[in-house]
Amino acid sequence: MTEHKGDGAAFDKNWKDRPETSYLHWTRGEPENQIQLAFRQHWLTFNELLANQVGEKRCLEVGCGRGSLSAYFADDGWNCTLLDISETAIKRAKQAFEKADLKANFDIGDCLDLPYPDGSFDLVFSIGLLEHFEDFNLVISEQTRVLDEGGMFIGYVVPHLPDCIQKDYEWVNQLLKAIMPEESAQAISGKTEVYRSDALSPPYIKSMKDAGLKKIKAAGAYPLPMVSHSIDFPFSLLPEVAERTLVHHFKDILGKRAAEGSNPWLCEEGEGQAFLLWGRK
Ligand SMILES: C[S@@+](CC[C@H](N)C(=O)[O-])C[C@H]1O[C@@H](n2cnc3c(N)ncnc32)[C@H](O)[C@@H]1O
Repeated sequence: MTEHKGDGAAFDKNWKDRPETSYLHWTRGEPENQIQLAFRQHWLTFNELLANQVGEKRCLEVGCGRGSLSAYFADDGWNCTLLDISETAIKRAKQAFEKADLKANFDIGDCLDLPYPDGSFDLVFSIGLLEHFEDFNLVISEQTRVLDEGGMFIGYVVPHLPDCIQKDYEWVNQLLKAIMPEESAQAISGKTEVYRSDALSPPYIKSMKDAGLKKIKAAGAYPLPMVSHSIDFPFSLLPEVAERTLVHHFKDILGKRAAEGSNPWLCEEGEGQAFLLWGRK
Protein backbone atom coordinates (compact mmCIF):
# COMPACT_ATOMS: atom_id res chain seq x y z
CA MET A 1 0.00 0.00 0.00
CA THR A 2 1.29 3.49 -0.80
CA GLU A 3 2.10 5.78 2.08
CA HIS A 4 -0.32 8.67 2.66
CA LYS A 5 1.51 11.94 2.06
CA GLY A 6 -1.27 14.49 2.51
CA ASP A 7 -3.70 12.95 0.01
CA GLY A 8 -3.38 16.05 -2.21
CA ALA A 9 -5.12 14.41 -5.20
CA ALA A 10 -8.15 13.47 -3.07
CA PHE A 11 -8.27 17.00 -1.65
CA ASP A 12 -8.04 18.50 -5.12
CA LYS A 13 -11.07 16.43 -6.15
CA ASN A 14 -12.98 17.56 -3.04
CA TRP A 15 -12.12 21.22 -3.64
CA LYS A 16 -13.69 21.03 -7.12
CA ASP A 17 -17.29 21.96 -7.90
CA ARG A 18 -18.63 21.83 -4.37
CA PRO A 19 -20.62 24.82 -3.11
CA GLU A 20 -19.04 24.48 0.38
CA THR A 21 -15.62 25.33 -1.02
CA SER A 22 -16.51 28.60 -2.69
CA TYR A 23 -16.84 30.74 0.45
CA LEU A 24 -14.32 31.77 3.07
CA HIS A 25 -14.69 30.79 6.68
CA TRP A 26 -13.37 34.27 7.45
CA THR A 27 -15.50 37.30 8.11
CA ARG A 28 -14.73 40.88 9.09
CA GLY A 29 -18.02 41.12 10.93
CA GLU A 30 -19.64 38.90 13.49
CA PRO A 31 -19.46 35.15 12.72
CA GLU A 32 -22.66 33.98 11.04
CA ASN A 33 -22.06 30.26 11.26
CA GLN A 34 -20.26 27.77 13.48
CA ILE A 35 -17.24 27.46 11.16
CA GLN A 36 -16.73 31.21 10.98
CA LEU A 37 -16.95 31.21 14.76
CA ALA A 38 -14.33 28.45 14.92
CA PHE A 39 -11.91 30.36 12.67
CA ARG A 40 -12.47 33.54 14.72
CA GLN A 41 -11.47 31.55 17.80
CA HIS A 42 -8.42 30.12 15.99
CA TRP A 43 -7.38 33.68 15.14
CA LEU A 44 -7.80 34.94 18.72
CA THR A 45 -5.88 31.94 20.03
CA PHE A 46 -3.03 32.26 17.49
CA ASN A 47 -2.65 35.89 18.57
CA GLU A 48 -2.44 34.85 22.19
CA LEU A 49 0.26 32.28 21.34
CA LEU A 50 2.20 34.84 19.28
CA ALA A 51 2.11 37.30 22.20
CA ASN A 52 3.18 40.17 19.91
CA GLN A 53 6.57 38.54 19.27
CA VAL A 54 6.18 38.47 15.50
CA GLY A 55 9.30 39.88 13.84
CA GLU A 56 8.56 41.35 10.40
CA LYS A 57 5.07 39.82 10.12
CA ARG A 58 5.88 37.47 7.23
CA CYS A 59 3.68 34.39 7.47
CA LEU A 60 3.22 31.19 5.51
CA GLU A 61 0.16 28.93 5.61
CA VAL A 62 1.06 25.43 4.42
CA GLY A 63 -1.83 23.36 2.99
CA CYS A 64 -3.87 26.57 2.92
CA GLY A 65 -7.02 25.32 1.18
CA ARG A 66 -9.09 28.46 0.67
CA GLY A 67 -6.92 30.27 3.24
CA SER A 68 -9.53 31.07 5.86
CA LEU A 69 -7.09 31.74 8.70
CA SER A 70 -4.61 33.51 6.42
CA ALA A 71 -7.43 35.93 5.60
CA TYR A 72 -7.33 37.09 9.24
CA PHE A 73 -3.57 37.63 9.03
CA ALA A 74 -3.82 39.46 5.69
CA ASP A 75 -6.57 41.71 7.04
CA ASP A 76 -4.32 42.47 10.02
CA GLY A 77 -1.49 43.70 7.78
CA TRP A 78 0.70 40.58 7.64
CA ASN A 79 2.64 39.76 4.49
CA CYS A 80 0.94 36.42 3.77
CA THR A 81 2.04 33.55 1.57
CA LEU A 82 -0.37 30.68 0.97
CA LEU A 83 0.79 27.32 -0.37
CA ASP A 84 -1.19 24.24 -1.34
CA ILE A 85 -0.49 21.24 -3.56
CA SER A 86 -4.01 21.48 -4.99
CA GLU A 87 -4.34 23.86 -7.92
CA THR A 88 -8.07 24.05 -7.21
CA ALA A 89 -7.51 25.05 -3.58
CA ILE A 90 -5.20 27.87 -4.67
CA LYS A 91 -7.79 28.99 -7.21
CA ARG A 92 -10.45 29.03 -4.45
CA ALA A 93 -8.14 30.97 -2.12
CA LYS A 94 -7.31 33.56 -4.80
CA GLN A 95 -11.01 34.04 -5.61
CA ALA A 96 -11.91 34.41 -1.93
CA PHE A 97 -9.11 36.91 -1.24
CA GLU A 98 -9.98 38.95 -4.32
CA LYS A 99 -13.63 39.09 -3.30
CA ALA A 100 -12.66 40.32 0.19
CA ASP A 101 -10.08 42.76 -1.23
CA LEU A 102 -7.25 41.01 0.65
CA LYS A 103 -3.67 40.77 -0.65
CA ALA A 104 -1.39 37.72 -0.45
CA ASN A 105 1.12 35.61 -2.41
CA PHE A 106 -0.17 32.26 -3.66
CA ASP A 107 1.92 29.21 -4.57
CA ILE A 108 1.07 25.74 -5.79
CA GLY A 109 3.67 23.54 -4.12
CA ASP A 110 4.49 20.52 -1.99
CA CYS A 111 5.01 20.94 1.76
CA LEU A 112 7.61 18.14 1.56
CA ASP A 113 9.80 20.45 -0.51
CA LEU A 114 8.86 24.07 0.25
CA PRO A 115 9.90 26.45 -2.54
CA TYR A 116 11.37 29.08 -0.16
CA PRO A 117 14.89 29.84 1.10
CA ASP A 118 15.81 29.13 4.74
CA GLY A 119 14.60 31.74 7.24
CA SER A 120 11.95 33.34 5.01
CA PHE A 121 9.09 33.67 7.51
CA ASP A 122 8.31 34.85 11.05
CA LEU A 123 5.33 32.52 11.38
CA VAL A 124 4.62 29.24 9.60
CA PHE A 125 1.35 27.50 10.32
CA SER A 126 -0.96 24.79 9.09
CA ILE A 127 -4.61 24.06 9.80
CA GLY A 128 -5.69 20.47 9.25
CA LEU A 129 -2.59 19.33 7.37
CA LEU A 130 -0.26 17.25 9.58
CA GLU A 131 -2.80 14.53 10.36
CA HIS A 132 -3.01 13.62 6.67
CA PHE A 133 0.61 12.37 6.63
CA GLU A 134 1.65 8.95 7.89
CA ASP A 135 5.19 10.34 8.22
CA PHE A 136 5.07 14.04 9.10
CA ASN A 137 8.78 14.51 10.00
CA LEU A 138 9.68 16.16 6.71
CA VAL A 139 6.53 18.32 6.79
CA ILE A 140 7.63 19.69 10.18
CA SER A 141 11.35 20.01 9.36
CA GLU A 142 10.59 21.86 6.11
CA GLN A 143 8.38 24.36 7.95
CA THR A 144 11.10 24.81 10.56
CA ARG A 145 13.74 25.34 7.85
CA VAL A 146 11.85 28.26 6.27
CA LEU A 147 11.29 29.92 9.68
CA ASP A 148 13.54 32.79 10.69
CA GLU A 149 15.41 32.54 14.03
CA GLY A 150 12.89 33.18 16.80
CA GLY A 151 10.01 32.56 14.39
CA MET A 152 6.91 30.67 15.45
CA PHE A 153 5.63 27.29 14.25
CA ILE A 154 1.94 26.54 14.87
CA GLY A 155 0.16 23.38 13.80
CA TYR A 156 -3.57 22.87 14.26
CA VAL A 157 -4.14 19.13 14.01
CA VAL A 158 -7.54 17.45 13.57
CA PRO A 159 -6.99 13.75 14.23
CA HIS A 160 -9.54 10.97 14.19
CA LEU A 161 -10.76 11.26 17.81
CA PRO A 162 -13.74 8.97 18.37
CA ASP A 163 -13.93 9.90 22.07
CA CYS A 164 -13.85 13.67 21.75
CA ILE A 165 -16.76 15.97 22.61
CA GLN A 166 -18.37 15.08 19.28
CA LYS A 167 -19.42 11.64 20.50
CA ASP A 168 -22.04 13.14 22.87
CA TYR A 169 -23.66 14.96 19.93
CA GLU A 170 -23.60 12.23 17.33
CA TRP A 171 -27.32 11.70 17.86
CA VAL A 172 -27.98 15.34 16.86
CA ASN A 173 -26.18 14.81 13.55
CA GLN A 174 -28.03 11.52 13.01
CA LEU A 175 -31.28 13.38 13.60
CA LEU A 176 -30.30 16.06 11.08
CA LYS A 177 -29.44 13.40 8.52
CA ALA A 178 -32.87 11.83 9.07
CA ILE A 179 -34.81 15.08 8.67
CA MET A 180 -32.62 16.40 5.82
CA PRO A 181 -32.12 13.24 3.74
CA GLU A 182 -31.70 15.01 0.40
CA GLU A 183 -29.23 17.63 1.67
CA SER A 184 -27.35 14.92 3.51
CA ALA A 185 -27.09 12.63 0.45
CA GLN A 186 -26.05 15.56 -1.72
CA ALA A 187 -23.42 16.67 0.80
CA ILE A 188 -21.61 13.34 0.81
CA SER A 189 -22.05 12.41 -2.85
CA GLY A 190 -18.75 12.41 -4.68
CA LYS A 191 -16.64 13.20 -1.62
CA THR A 192 -13.35 11.32 -1.65
CA GLU A 193 -12.06 9.84 1.60
CA VAL A 194 -8.79 11.21 2.91
CA TYR A 195 -6.38 9.57 5.35
CA ARG A 196 -6.56 10.93 8.90
CA SER A 197 -4.21 9.80 11.66
CA ASP A 198 -5.45 9.20 15.20
CA ALA A 199 -2.17 10.26 16.82
CA LEU A 200 -2.18 12.78 19.67
CA SER A 201 0.62 15.30 20.25
CA PRO A 202 3.58 13.15 21.55
CA PRO A 203 4.94 11.97 18.15
CA TYR A 204 4.53 15.48 16.71
CA ILE A 205 6.33 16.99 19.69
CA LYS A 206 9.23 14.57 19.17
CA SER A 207 9.38 15.55 15.51
CA MET A 208 9.32 19.28 16.42
CA LYS A 209 12.22 18.72 18.85
CA ASP A 210 14.16 16.78 16.20
CA ALA A 211 13.58 19.67 13.76
CA GLY A 212 15.21 22.06 16.24
CA LEU A 213 12.13 23.86 17.61
CA LYS A 214 12.19 25.07 21.22
CA LYS A 215 9.63 26.13 23.84
CA ILE A 216 7.32 23.45 22.44
CA LYS A 217 3.80 23.21 23.81
CA ALA A 218 0.53 21.46 22.98
CA ALA A 219 -3.11 21.82 24.03
CA GLY A 220 -6.50 20.48 23.02
CA ALA A 221 -8.67 22.89 21.03
CA TYR A 222 -12.22 23.45 19.77
CA PRO A 223 -14.21 22.18 22.78
CA LEU A 224 -17.54 22.36 20.91
CA PRO A 225 -19.47 19.91 18.76
CA MET A 226 -19.76 20.29 15.00
CA VAL A 227 -23.46 20.21 14.23
CA SER A 228 -24.36 19.35 10.65
CA HIS A 229 -26.01 16.85 8.31
CA SER A 230 -22.43 16.32 7.01
CA ILE A 231 -19.34 17.05 9.07
CA ASP A 232 -17.03 15.38 6.53
CA PHE A 233 -14.55 17.63 4.72
CA PRO A 234 -15.64 20.03 3.37
CA PHE A 235 -18.08 20.75 6.19
CA SER A 236 -21.71 21.44 5.17
CA LEU A 237 -23.56 24.32 6.79
CA LEU A 238 -27.12 24.13 8.08
CA PRO A 239 -29.78 26.67 6.99
CA GLU A 240 -28.93 30.24 8.05
CA VAL A 241 -31.31 30.44 10.97
CA ALA A 242 -29.95 27.21 12.48
CA GLU A 243 -26.35 28.40 12.09
CA ARG A 244 -27.13 31.73 13.77
CA THR A 245 -28.82 29.92 16.65
CA LEU A 246 -25.80 27.68 17.09
CA VAL A 247 -23.42 30.66 17.01
CA HIS A 248 -25.49 32.35 19.72
CA HIS A 249 -25.46 29.21 21.87
CA PHE A 250 -21.76 28.47 21.32
CA LYS A 251 -20.77 32.06 22.13
CA ASP A 252 -22.61 31.67 25.38
CA ILE A 253 -20.66 28.51 26.21
CA LEU A 254 -17.35 30.17 25.27
CA GLY A 255 -18.25 33.23 27.36
CA LYS A 256 -18.78 31.00 30.40
CA ARG A 257 -15.50 29.19 29.77
CA ALA A 258 -13.68 32.54 29.41
CA ALA A 259 -15.16 33.72 32.71
CA GLU A 260 -13.25 30.87 34.35
CA GLY A 261 -10.08 32.74 33.41
CA SER A 262 -8.37 30.84 30.61
CA ASN A 263 -8.56 30.75 26.82
CA PRO A 264 -12.04 29.30 26.17
CA TRP A 265 -10.91 27.67 22.91
CA LEU A 266 -8.28 25.47 24.59
CA CYS A 267 -9.04 22.33 26.54
CA GLU A 268 -7.67 18.91 27.49
CA GLU A 269 -6.13 17.09 24.55
CA GLY A 270 -8.58 14.47 23.29
CA GLU A 271 -11.57 16.41 24.62
CA GLY A 272 -11.87 18.95 21.80
CA GLN A 273 -12.11 18.40 18.04
CA ALA A 274 -8.42 19.16 17.52
CA PHE A 275 -5.15 20.06 19.19
CA LEU A 276 -2.61 22.80 18.76
CA LEU A 277 1.16 22.47 18.68
CA TRP A 278 3.47 25.42 18.89
CA GLY A 279 7.13 26.21 19.27
CA ARG A 280 9.85 28.72 18.41
CA LYS A 281 12.94 28.30 16.22
C1 LIG B 1 -8.07 19.78 5.48
S1 LIG B 1 -7.45 20.79 4.22
C2 LIG B 1 -7.16 22.26 5.14
C3 LIG B 1 -7.33 23.52 4.36
C4 LIG B 1 -7.14 24.82 5.09
N1 LIG B 1 -5.91 24.90 5.84
C5 LIG B 1 -8.30 25.20 5.97
O1 LIG B 1 -8.06 25.73 7.04
O2 LIG B 1 -9.46 25.04 5.59
C6 LIG B 1 -5.79 20.19 3.90
C7 LIG B 1 -5.11 20.86 2.75
O3 LIG B 1 -3.75 20.35 2.66
C8 LIG B 1 -3.42 20.28 1.28
N2 LIG B 1 -2.29 19.34 1.09
C9 LIG B 1 -2.30 17.99 1.15
N3 LIG B 1 -1.09 17.49 0.87
C10 LIG B 1 -0.28 18.55 0.65
C11 LIG B 1 1.10 18.67 0.32
N4 LIG B 1 1.89 17.59 0.18
N5 LIG B 1 1.61 19.91 0.17
C12 LIG B 1 0.83 21.01 0.31
N6 LIG B 1 -0.50 20.95 0.61
C13 LIG B 1 -1.04 19.74 0.78
C14 LIG B 1 -4.70 19.79 0.62
O4 LIG B 1 -4.71 20.03 -0.76
C15 LIG B 1 -5.76 20.57 1.39
O5 LIG B 1 -6.08 21.77 0.75
